[in-house]
Amino acid sequence: MVEVSKRVKGIEESKIGESLKVLEQEPSIISLGAGEPDFSTPQRIIEATKKFLEKGYTHYAPLEGKVELREALADKLKKENKIDVSPEEVLVTCGSKEAILLTILSLIDPGEKVIIPDPGYLAFRPIVLVANGVPISLHLRQEDGFEINIDELKKLIDPKVKLLIINTPSNPTGAVFKKKTLEEIADVVVENELMVLSDEVYEKLVYEGKHISIGSLNGMKDYVITTQSFSKSYAMCGFRIGYVTGPLKLVEEMKKLKICTTISAPTASQIAAIEALKSEKDVEKMRKEYDRRRKLLIKRLSDFEKMEFVKPKGAFYFFPNISAYGMSSEEFSEFLLEKVKVLILPGNEFGKYGEGFIRISYATAYEKIEEAMDRMEKVLS
Ligand SMILES: Cc1ncc(COP(=O)(O)O)c(C=O)c1O
Repeated sequence: MVEVSKRVKGIEESKIGESLKVLEQEPSIISLGAGEPDFSTPQRIIEATKKFLEKGYTHYAPLEGKVELREALADKLKKENKIDVSPEEVLVTCGSKEAILLTILSLIDPGEKVIIPDPGYLAFRPIVLVANGVPISLHLRQEDGFEINIDELKKLIDPKVKLLIINTPSNPTGAVFKKKTLEEIADVVVENELMVLSDEVYEKLVYEGKHISIGSLNGMKDYVITTQSFSKSYAMCGFRIGYVTGPLKLVEEMKKLKICTTISAPTASQIAAIEALKSEKDVEKMRKEYDRRRKLLIKRLSDFEKMEFVKPKGAFYFFPNISAYGMSSEEFSEFLLEKVKVLILPGNEFGKYGEGFIRISYATAYEKIEEAMDRMEKVLS
């Protein structure tokens, strides 16, 4: 076969898929590795989707998404996120991952720089590479509560930087950015004429503080692309449905790319999304249960004297510092898997500044988390 493109060759393969595979072979492993809700999709969403499928809603949807859904999303963005958008400024996508890809492909030319959070969601870097852009790591530090340090951000800016990606509530740290942080970011963005991609997939999973969309801040509408999703808040990962909103001109350009890729988000999933927007009680039930698990982990992880962690305020992850154990993130993860069959993810999977940390997910049943902590106590105390 001929050589594959340099584009795909340049993408390092994540080891996460590999480590999750061991679960199938070894049922006694407790996984605190998942980035996916363990809850089933609320029944009313499934029923509504079934009904529409039976009625024959199996055709393509409009490229930009069904008008009823875009209208409902524009309403939601106005009411909940305080971002003033029209339905034309909303593009429905196959999960928010596609929204991130379309944004970056529409904005970035080869050689242009994109500042990404580090530690941060592991897909940002490869997507920037696919666009032949240059990902630049912005170090998020434990001592800053994993919020963005503005001085650090300013140091990275030069004429090649075009886009800054932020993610609040954050994967893998659980940080929820304060309004003051967002205001300072906004000032830097406006002063340097950048754009911001604000990844808000965990917007509804907040336990302390409040989620604020940077797109709602005064004068920011033209500078911000907001990506959101049904995956995490509504336990709908498999429906592959998300959306993006931003300046109309950019959304129009994204549509040109969308027709080359997925044409439209799945029609049945769009029906499910309309129903999901009426299911806030179900979201609240799940959020409460995540919070119960978060409190359990705060208590249990505090007992490990050598482990330090910032109390997460949102999403469903802890990101403890394990460097005092004298092992690298990968060695520590392998140690736990081998000795007590507990699967967690090494922090370096989330960027070079994630080294010395691990990610613990609490998208797993309360009892399983308790059992995992009992097992870890046996080898870490
Ligand atoms: C921060 C963040 N953004 C985006 C995504 C992609 O989610 P989806 O494409 O299912 O909306 C994820 C998934 O884990 C994530 O953690």
